[in-house]
Amino acid sequence: MKLIDIYSRVKKDLNAVEKELETSVYSDVGLLREASVHLLKAGGKRIRPIFVLLSGEFGRYDLNRLKKVAVPLELIHMASLVHDDVIDDAETRRGQLTVRSKWDNRIAMYTGDYIFGRALDVITELGDPEIHRIMSRAIVQMSIGEMEQVRFFFHTEQTIRDYLLRIKRKTALLIAVSCQLGALAAGASKETAERLYSYGFNVGMAFQIRDDLLDLSGTEEQIGKPPGSDIKQGNLTLPVLFALCDPKLRGLLLEEIERIRLADGQTDVSRFLDVIRSSEGLVEAEKLADRYIDKAIEHLSPLPDCQARRDLIGVAHFVGERSY
Ligand code: IPE
Ligand code: IPE
Ligand code: MG
Ligand code: MG
Repeated sequence: MKLIDIYSRVKKDLNAVEKELETSVYSDVGLLREASVHLLKAGGKRIRPIFVLLSGEFGRYDLNRLKKVAVPLELIHMASLVHDDVIDDAETRRGQLTVRSKWDNRIAMYTGDYIFGRALDVITELGDPEIHRIMSRAIVQMSIGEMEQVRFFFHTEQTIRDYLLRIKRKTALLIAVSCQLGALAAGASKETAERLYSYGFNVGMAFQIRDDLLDLSGTEEQIGKPPGSDIKQGNLTLPVLFALCDPKLRGLLLEEIERIRLADGQTDVSRFLDVIRSSEGLVEAEKLADRYIDKAIEHLSPLPDCQARRDLIGVAHFVGERSY
C-alpha cells in the first residue's frame, strides 16, 4: 500500500478539509490573508488531517465533525511552522519562500498567532470541552518542546533521552492527538481512541526522527530546504547524538560543532555532514525509527481488521521510509 493509494481513497474528504482550511484563514486584512494563503498553497503532506479521517472510521464517520478536528490540527501545525521558521531563520519551506523571508519576521509572528486563533475558533464549533482541552494541551506541550530545543542548542552533553522527550513534545503528541481526536469526534470508544493515540505517538516519534535524518542525508530538492539546517541553528539531532558516542569521531565532531557555533551558523557545514554520513549515526537512528513504527503497528492489532486499519499501517510504513 503506497501513500498515494491512501490519498486517493480519502481524496474527496481531504479536498473538503482543504476547502475548509482556505475558508478558515480568510481575513479582510490583506496581509494576514496573503501570508496564510501563501502557506496553504505551498502544499504540505496534510498528514495530520489524514490521521484524523482514518481514525474517524473507527466510529460513526461524519465528515462535518471530523473536519472541525482536522482543520484546527493542520492550522496548529502550520502556525507552529511559521513561528519555527522565524526561530530557524529559514529561507524556504515546502520548496517555497517562508513567510518570514517573503515578508518579514514580524509579519510571520502575527500570521502564526492569527492562524492559532483561527484554529481555536474552528475547534469551538464542536462545542466539546474535552476535545478542546486535549488540543490546548497539545499546543502547550509543543511550545515546551520547542523551548527545550532552544535550551539544548549546541549542548553536546545532552542525552538521547533529552532528545526523545523533546521530539515527543514538539511533534509526536500532536500526531497522537490527531488520531485520538479523530476517533473521539466520531464517537468511538475511549479504548479505541487510546489505542489510536498510542499508534499516533509512536508514528510521530518516527516521523520526527525521519525528519531529522532527512535534514542530514536528504537533498534540497527532496526536503524543500537546504540540508544541514538543524546543525546551523545548533539543533543536535539523534544521528548526531549517536555519532558523538563513537570515540573515533567524537573529537572531530566536537571541533566541527564548536566551529559552527562560533560562526553562528553562517558557515559551510559540508564537513560536518560528511562526518555524520560516515558514522553509524544515520543507521542507528533509522533502526530506532523502525522500532517506533513496529510499535505503532502493534497498537493497531486489537482493532477490527478494516480498510482504515490497513491504511494506518500503510501510513506508518510510509513514515518509516519517507524521503520527503
Ligand atoms: C514538518 O512537518 C515539521 C515536523 C513536525 C517534522 P511535516 O513534514 O508534516 O510538514 P508538511 O506539512 O508536510 O510540510
Ligand atoms: C518541527 O521540527 C517543528 C515543530 C514541531 C513546530 P523541525 O524544526 O525539524 O521542522 P522543519 O525541519 O523545520 O520542518
Ligand atoms: Mg525547523
Ligand atoms: Mg527538521
